[in-house]
Amino acid sequence: MKRVDDFRLLFGKQELVPIVIGGMGVDISTVELALEAARLGGIGNISDAMVQTVSDHRFDTKFVSQKLKQSPHNVASSDKSSVKFCLGTLEEATRNHVGQAMEAKRGDGLIFINCMEKLTMNAPRETLSMRLKAALDAGIDGITLSAGLHLGSFALMEDHPRFRDAKLGIIVSSARALAMFLRKNARLQRLPDYVVVEGPLAGGHLGFGLDWAQYDLRTILDEVLAYLKSEHLDIPVIAAGGIFTGSDATAFLEQGAAAVQVATRFTVTHECGLPEKVKQEYFKASEADIEVNLLSPTGYPMRMLKGSPGIGAGIRPNCEAYGYLLDAKGNCSYIDAYNREVALHPEAKKVSVKDKTCLCTHMRNFDIWTCGETTWRLKDTTRRLADGSYQLLSAEQVFHDYQFSTGGKIALPD
Ligand SMILES: Cc1cc2nc3c(=O)[nH]c(=O)nc-3n(C[C@H](O)[C@H](O)[C@H](O)COP(=O)(O)O)c2cc1C
Repeated sequence: MKRVDDFRLLFGKQELVPIVIGGMGVDISTVELALEAARLGGIGNISDAMVQTVSDHRFDTKFVSQKLKQSPHNVASSDKSSVKFCLGTLEEATRNHVGQAMEAKRGDGLIFINCMEKLTMNAPRETLSMRLKAALDAGIDGITLSAGLHLGSFALMEDHPRFRDAKLGIIVSSARALAMFLRKNARLQRLPDYVVVEGPLAGGHLGFGLDWAQYDLRTILDEVLAYLKSEHLDIPVIAAGGIFTGSDATAFLEQGAAAVQVATRFTVTHECGLPEKVKQEYFKASEADIEVNLLSPTGYPMRMLKGSPGIGAGIRPNCEAYGYLLDAKGNCSYIDAYNREVALHPEAKKVSVKDKTCLCTHMRNFDIWTCGETTWRLKDTTRRLADGSYQLLSAEQVFHDYQFSTGGKIALPD
């Protein structure tokens, strides 16, 4: 019976354990988690979502309060078009975050950074260009482009000296999206080094509509592999979304995936950035506690626990401090939803906004509990302690369970 360890992900002559820990913003996939993946010979993604707040937490910088100080008078205004990021600060925060990871890296694996196109930051091209270039400058091994089609992102890096040596990959949810990306970037003569095919069971934002349940990863993977074959392209394809056991992973590798990208099982590890109380919520969740909704201002469906405290909260938009989802004109659909509720309830001290959420604030505070579809199975991956709580796992244990287990089994911690 085969197991994941019988396979290797090949990047040229470099051989890796074919396990990638996916990016989880905001600082849920921490540097510590990515370092473990790299130490064990696989790939770990950090995320650059809200990197200025991440830098503040880790390096005692004051980027968030400095940004707020640029436009405190604007907080009560619904016009956020003047709320801009300082590119120099963004660069410094990215260098802090990536530099820390790369300096601490040990072992034969790699560390990538997950960059979401939907973080438009009131100047999409300029800020994304800075995020990508600063990550390359700080020595990141690779960049995973996600949450958006990223049709122009390779071009933003084409002048960078590391454009052809760093590993660059994209996340897609269909062969059609991949074909479009390749067509648009043909002039650069630079193919992606890997393609992550993410199915509908993943955590975070989904590349599907609310009809996500009608799709399945196995079929999409087949379509992507067939498309690449028809184009005579040899790009490693990484399967993601709902891969819960080593045997699940092995089945995808046997189907033709070069590796698997996994995340949900690592949300309950010590190294994951979620607060301990929230990790217990993930353990406790049942199938009925998980939903896919349209609360994210990005417009993409997002999967989360129904009990997330950020759902229905009506806080004032925090764009002067954060503002990562402001589009090129300074709009965010949460601002509209919030203003509508305030106008409807002029006397109220507090309003509730049911259809959208202030994702920046709530992700930063770990109050939107985004999760994969298989979260309800996490309780079967550990032991219950005498006080009724669940035992947290180590990233090494979960990684090794994926790497070595067979027969659909999950090894429980000692
Ligand atoms: C808590 C959580 C947060 C996530 N955040 C992001 C993110 O910021 N960007 C992204 O591209 N994918 C994100 N994902 C998706 C993962 O990187 C990964 O591709 C997917 O969840 C793998 O499926 P699995 O969770 O079923 O193993 C997130 C997943 C989880 C569980």
